[in-house]
Formats: sequence, C-alpha cells, structure tokens
Amino acid sequence: MNIVWATSEAAPYAKTGGLADVSYSLPYALAENGHNVSVFMPYYPQVMAEKCDDTECVYELLGVPLGDGEEWAQIRRHKISDNLSFYFIEFDRFFDRPKLYDWDGNEYSDNAERFIFLSRAIMQAVLALDIKVDVLHSNDWHTAMCSVYLKSDLYNTFTNFSQTKSIITIHNIGYQGVFNKSNLYWTGLGWEYFNVHCFEFYDQLNFLKAGVLTSDMVTTVSPTYAEEILSPEYGFGLDHPLQHRAVQGKLRGIINGIDVNEWAPETDKLIPYNFSPSDLAGKALCKTELQKEFGLDVRPDVPLYGVVSRLAHQKGLDVFITCIDEMLKEDDVQFVIIGSGEKWQEAALADYAKAYPDRFGCHIGYSNKLAHLVEAGSDFFVMPSRYEPCGLNQMYSMKYGTVPIVRSTGGLEDTVSNYSAKNINNATGFKFYDLYPAALRDTMRWAASVYRNDKPAFKKMITNGMTTDFSWHHTAVEYEELYQHANTRF
Ligand code: ADP
Ligand code: GLC
Repeated sequence: MNIVWATSEAAPYAKTGGLADVSYSLPYALAENGHNVSVFMPYYPQVMAEKCDDTECVYELLGVPLGDGEEWAQIRRHKISDNLSFYFIEFDRFFDRPKLYDWDGNEYSDNAERFIFLSRAIMQAVLALDIKVDVLHSNDWHTAMCSVYLKSDLYNTFTNFSQTKSIITIHNIGYQGVFNKSNLYWTGLGWEYFNVHCFEFYDQLNFLKAGVLTSDMVTTVSPTYAEEILSPEYGFGLDHPLQHRAVQGKLRGIINGIDVNEWAPETDKLIPYNFSPSDLAGKALCKTELQKEFGLDVRPDVPLYGVVSRLAHQKGLDVFITCIDEMLKEDDVQFVIIGSGEKWQEAALADYAKAYPDRFGCHIGYSNKLAHLVEAGSDFFVMPSRYEPCGLNQMYSMKYGTVPIVRSTGGLEDTVSNYSAKNINNATGFKFYDLYPAALRDTMRWAASVYRNDKPAFKKMITNGMTTDFSWHHTAVEYEELYQHANTRF
C-alpha cells in the first residue's frame, strides 16, 4: 500500500510528546512490512537544528492556496529507506519558530492558519510528488483537515486520491483545535462545511471533530480509551460524534507499541550500565548513578520513584505533588522527576528539591538522556494520569525493570497488569482507581512494602515486565488490517 502519514511532529526531528514517537515508529514498522510510507510534517528549522543537514530539497515551488491567496512552500526530504521517507513542508512564516505550538505556554495566535496551511500543503505535496495514495492517515487536530479536504470538491476528482481511504488517529482528545469560525476563510471551503456534521462546534470551528466525522475510520491509541471517550467525562464534548462513529463500527482502539531499538536496556547507549532480565547488576549501578546525578543519598535499598512527564493537567501530577508531602515527611523513600509545563507545578517541584535535597531530585526541562537514566535507575515509575490515551512511559519502564504505578485509565489500564498475590505470574505493576492524593499515596506505599517485604514477588514483576513484547509488530499488523477494510468512500 502507498501510505501517507500526516503529522505535526515526529521523532527525532521535532517532539513534544508521544505523537512524535508513534509518528516515527509506526511508519517504520509499516515500511518494514513492505508498504511505501511517506510521512509529511512541517520543517521547523529552529527545533530541528541538527537534523536540518540531513534533508534535501525535492520540490521548490509548491503552491498552497490559503484564503483567497496562494503561498509558496518547499518540500524537503529525509530518505530513510527505499520505501520510507520523511517529507518536510518548509514555510518559514509559519514554522520557523522557537517551539512547535506555543511560546511560554501561550498558543501562537495563528495556529488555525498554520495547521490549515499544513494540511493543505500535504494535499498539494501528494499531487506534486504524484503519490497514488491508498491510505491517508492523519493524526490529532493539526492534520485532521486532510480528511475533510480528501472528501471535498477541491481534491476528490484527482486520480491520486481515487482509491484513498482516510484514517484519523486521536492521540489526545484534550486538544481539538477549536477556533473562531472566521478561520474557515483560510481553508478555501465554503460555509456549507460549517454544520454539525463537520466543523461546527458550539458556533466555533473544531478541526478534530471535522476529522472524526469525515474520515473513513477513526482510531485511538488503546481499546480502553476508545470506550472512555464515548462518555462525557472523557469525551471533552466529542462524545456524541464519537458515539455516532462507534455505532457505525468506525471507531477502533489499537494499542501503541514502543521503539524496542531505542528503549532496550541491553544496548542503550544513553545509560551508564546495560542490563537484561537475566542480569540486573547494571540496573543497580544505574540507580547509584541516578542518585549521584540528582545529589540524593546513594543507597541501594531505598525505594526510588521516578517520573518523566509533561506537567499538564492530564498527567495528574498535581495530585502527586499534594500527596508526596506526607511521604517526604514520614517515609524513607526517594523521588526523581523530569518534566516541564504548568509553572506552579514546576515551582512546587523545585521547592521540594530545595527542602529535601537528599531525597527529592528534579530537572525542570526536557532531557532525553535523563529520561533514559530515570527509566533505568528507578525502582518505580509513577503515572497518575487523569486520562491517558495510551502512554508510552509505562512501557519504557517495564522494559527497564522499573515497576509502573498507574491510575487505571486508557492505555495504562490496557498495558499494566495489577499486582496481587494471585496474579503474580502476570503482574507488572500497581494500579489505583480514584484520583485522590490518599489513593495514590496508599498505592505508592503498598508498592514500597512489596519492594521491601516480598523480594521474590518484586523480582518476578520486574522480569514479567522486561519480557513482555511491546514491539510495534502487533500494532502494525492491526493497522494493516484496518487499512484494508476501511471503506473507500462513505
Ligand atoms: P504524552 O505524549 O501524553 O506526553 P506519552 O507517554 O505517550 O505521553 O509520551 C511522552 C514521551 O515524551 C515519552 O517518550 C517521554 O519519555 C517523553 N517526555 C515527556 N516529558 C519529557 C521530558 N521532560 N524529558 C524527556 N522526555 C520527556
Ligand atoms: C498522546 C497521549 C499519550 C499517547 C501519545 C501517543 O500524547 O497523551 O497517551 O501515548 O499521544 O499516541
């Protein structure tokens, strides 16, 4: 199949979260299975600085209609193999910025225009490069417009798209791309698209909604999340449109995999010592290095809880921040956190680090190297998410013998098997259900007590996690089936 993957970010070029990891690994896995995969994303010169040299310009004057005018972009390419290429839409007015979506937490005011442009540019690029598209796979609100364009008169007469099935994957329904309806102007589409079956959402434009209602198939990144988003609590206002698609059999949850080449404790070059399920000596040494790196007391026997996360409401770290106060006062435990996001959370974490320097370490910011060290050197990895479409870090943790402590939601529910004396052959982590400080605290204490008092059980959980297959193989096969069976047209 000729697959076009549309995204606003992909690792290693530009990444703010898991969408970037998926936008590299899944196209890679599909290409390995023999498909021709073309990934399209913006060219962010400031963010991709050291990656820019690897790209070549393959198309110089790509005309992209925008509003009543036309802009001119370039297409750059990074060829990974004969059947996998990353194409970058180069247009500096929109994408030459210090960060992808916002500056200091404030969304760029022209984000509607930027991502309408991106979606339109992808459609134009497909024509310019003459790709006969079997599958057009868009991701989240930023590229949701591709599905709308595909069905519109602007593109549905081109032979390149005559066999195209459209898929949209929801990685996070908390971000929908909701803008003033005047932005419809930039799309080149008429007001007939501003209705409840497409863009209209409480008298505003909603890009994700339009994508959900016009794609041939809607997927999200775990089976549990696919059910959760049908409820008002998790649907963020899109529960009704999604119920409509679910009734048509057009909503599926497919769990993400992880890049098992990048996240492999046996070969990882970013950690000081390597280890494997049969030889965990290196893990103990990584714990020592982690404690040293953050200036904590170097002690092998103290339970160490790690966190690597965006500090966003979704991640529930506000609850974590509240509940660990008591643990820092009363328990013999250590914490290491890497994250950035909401300013008050950053400040609260920095305050803990100042008050408990020997037991609490934090790095406010983004560091892939430290993320690998935290995964390798911690005993536990904490994810108290309010909602979690899939979550990748719990899988990275399990691969590194770090036992996840998670709220039972979305992909966390689907990938972690809860500890109990009866479930010890399968258990890989600890789950809690209600997002209250006491529930999280009790679960972290419960985990510490198993760590201290039932070492064989704890060791078994480590091995269970490390030997679970989280590779993209199964996921890629599920997407291939979905691509084959998605309807060509409504
Ligand atoms: P989300 O995409 O919602 O943020 P995921 O668990 O799917 O959550 O993916 C998060 C990705 O971003 C992981 O690869 C994680 O290691 C990485 N990450 C998040 N915050 C940081 C950080 N501060 N430093 C390094 N990596 C981070
Ligand atoms: C989103 C979700 C996360 C998921 C990732 C990749 O960022 O918040 O749960 O793992 O997308 O699909």
